[in-house]
Amino acid sequence: MTKRNYEGDGIVVHWDSGRCIHGGNCLRALPEVFDTTRRPWIDVTAADADTIAAAVEVCPSGALRYERTDGTAGEAPDVPTTIIPWPNGPLLVRGNIEVKDRRGDVFTEGPRLALCRCGASKNHPFCDLSHVEAGFRNYPRAMSRERDSAESPHDVGPELQ
Ligand code: SF4
Ligand code: FES
Repeated sequence: MTKRNYEGDGIVVHWDSGRCIHGGNCLRALPEVFDTTRRPWIDVTAADADTIAAAVEVCPSGALRYERTDGTAGEAPDVPTTIIPWPNGPLLVRGNIEVKDRRGDVFTEGPRLALCRCGASKNHPFCDLSHVEAGFRNYPRAMSRERDSAESPHDVGPELQ
């Protein structure tokens, strides 16, 4: 896995291949800067720093991040933190995120990340697109008939304690 930096006028863009889920949001947001047919694939001279920053912020996995080097404020994490279970895919998290190991040590932080929801990732806890090969199928909020008609917790399932 690779981490690369792209230094432009007033901004440095960081890309972490280990976090990229290749959804293409960046390519659609700003194709003149993000172009996978070109090397380097990010051309930070093709737009101004504000435009590039806005495009980086649509990256759902946090593979793309940036630092401003012109004194402009950096990315403001979403408040409140949000978690979106993506249909047939990861949990997309946006906010002031710290991922900790069980000892409580932070091993990842940032404003955006994609967490594996299918169990098949080889890069836990992050999504690595293995859900596609695994054929993961899950539509959030697709509630069972029992839940739709439940009149008490008893109707939802067995008691766990
Ligand atoms: S938006 Fe982020 S996750 Fe999607 S292709 Fe671009 S860098 Fe990868
Ligand atoms: S949800 Fe993407 S690898 Fe599991």
